[in-house]
Amino acid sequence: MAEQQKQKDIWSAELYGEKVAPFVATSTTKVLAWLDPKPTDEILDIGSGEGPLTACIAPHVKRIVGIDGSPNMIEHFKKAYPHIESRVVDCRRLDQEPSLTNGSFNKVFSNAALHWILRDPETRSNTMKGCFEALKPGGLLVNESGALGNVAEVHSAIISGLVTQGIPVTQARNASPWWFPSLQAMKDLVEGAGFTWVKGEVQLRQTTLTENKNGGVEGWIRLFGEPFLELLPTAQARDAAVKHAVDVLEAVGRQQHDGSFTVNYIRLRFIAKKPE
Ligand SMILES: C[S@@+](CC[C@H](N)C(=O)[O-])C[C@H]1O[C@@H](n2cnc3c(N)ncnc32)[C@H](O)[C@@H]1O
Repeated sequence: MAEQQKQKDIWSAELYGEKVAPFVATSTTKVLAWLDPKPTDEILDIGSGEGPLTACIAPHVKRIVGIDGSPNMIEHFKKAYPHIESRVVDCRRLDQEPSLTNGSFNKVFSNAALHWILRDPETRSNTMKGCFEALKPGGLLVNESGALGNVAEVHSAIISGLVTQGIPVTQARNASPWWFPSLQAMKDLVEGAGFTWVKGEVQLRQTTLTENKNGGVEGWIRLFGEPFLELLPTAQARDAAVKHAVDVLEAVGRQQHDGSFTVNYIRLRFIAKKPE
C-alpha cells in the first residue's frame, strides 16, 4: 500500500482563532446541546484545533482529550490549556492509535473538522473505524461539519480565480481540501463503520466574517484556501487569483444595511451510537 501522504500544516492558530474565523468555535450552541456534556463523560475531541471549544467543555466533564493533525494548533493548545490532554494525531489514521482506540471514551466529538479529515476517500473509513473503536459500547459520536453546498460561493470563486491564472478546472477542483457530503452520504459512511444513526440535520448558517486586518473574505481565502493557492507557482499569480475571487464575491456577500460580509455556511450535524 502506498504510504499515506503527510499533510502540510496550513494552520496558524493566531490567524485562525483571532483574525479569520473566531466564529467557528463560538457558533456551537446546537452541537454542544447535542453533545450534552455530563460530569461522568470521557470525551475524545477530534480536530480540536488550538482548543477553545475543548476548554469550554472541559469543566463540565470527567476527561476530555483534544487531538489535531496540526503541530501548530497543538502547540498553541498546550500553551493555552496545559491542564487539558492534547496531542498531534492525523485522524486520517485514527484507527492506528491504539492508546486512543481502546474503547475508553463514552463520547467522540468533533466540530468543524470532519470535512477536512474526511477529504480523501481512501482514508474515510479509517477515521470512522477509529471513532468506533475509541468508544465504549453505547457511546456516542457527535459531530458538526460542512454539508453539501457549504461555503459554495467562496469555493466556486477560488476555483474561478485559479482558472484565470491558467489552472485547468479539473485540477483546481481536485485541489479542494474539503469533503462536503449530503446528509445521506454522511449517514452511509457512519453506518458503514457499524454505528446506528440517531439523528441528523442540515442547516444554513449565514456567517458574518471578521473585519480584522488579515481577516475578511480575503483572509478567509488565504488561510482556508491555501491548498488551492499552492497550485500557483508565484506570489504574484496567487495574489491575482485571490483578487479575482474577492472581486467576484463582492457581487454576492456584501450586506446592504451595514456593509459587512456574509458567507453561507451550511452545517451538517449528527449523533450516531455504537451499539450496546
Ligand atoms: C476549522 S478547525 C476546527 C477546530 C475546532 N474543532 C473548533 O471548533 O474551533 C479544523 C481543524 O481540523 C484539523 N484537521 C484537518 N485535517 C486533520 C487531520 N487529518 N487530522 C486531524 N486534524 C485535522 C485542523 O488542523 C484544524 O485544527
